[in-house]
Amino acid sequence: MREVEPAGFLGAHHDGALVGYAIFVPSLKRVQRQAIRRGVIFRWAWSALRGGFALRFSAVWRVLLNKVLFVRSGNRYRSTGDAQLLNIAVVPAMHGRGVATSLVREGLRVMRELRVREVRLEVRPWNASAVALYRKTGWHEAGRTRDLEGEWLVMVAQP
Ligand SMILES: CC(C)(COP(=O)(O)OP(=O)(O)OC[C@H]1O[C@@H](n2cnc3c(N)ncnc32)[C@H](O)[C@@H]1OP(=O)(O)O)[C@@H](O)C(=O)NCCC(=O)NCCS
Repeated sequence: MREVEPAGFLGAHHDGALVGYAIFVPSLKRVQRQAIRRGVIFRWAWSALRGGFALRFSAVWRVLLNKVLFVRSGNRYRSTGDAQLLNIAVVPAMHGRGVATSLVREGLRVMRELRVREVRLEVRPWNASAVALYRKTGWHEAGRTRDLEGEWLVMVAQP
């Protein structure tokens, strides 16, 4: 993914160590097409089925089905384009110190530079710190979707 969309692949460092990251992609479809073309999806699925990610066999099917549901609902509640904030995380020792706020603001700045007009994300509604982070950085609720683990809150922002 880093090779396909390097601009939105952000890392936060503290004392020389990586303490957080965020992955913004200006086009989700382009990433998905590249993942299929390069065989990444098939290698990942094969590795998961062979126990490569320490998942039980029954869990592998849940993960794969959830990925299919994610792809199928990827266009819902968008008004334009297919940019996405795919993931963000900060190491627990650095929580509450503004690292994620900086990552989101920098990601939106990068999207603006790439002339992206809308970015979408999905977050579990019960992930209170993430939902608060997104509201604080200008995202608003656009709708809800579901997968096998429950509800997703869909949020969008204009960079
Ligand atoms: C969500 C996450 C990325 C926030 O990272 P962070 O660096 O701690 O966030 P920040 O310090 O920038 O805080 C941003 C806002 O989030 C909210 N927040 C942060 N920690 C919180 C907590 N423990 N409880 C409630 N709200 C919290 C606050 O509104 C905060 O703004 P404020 O400090 O002005 O009040 C981090 O908790 C994390 O890595 N969680 C696990 C991975 C995850 O859930 N990712 C999101 C996937 S959708």
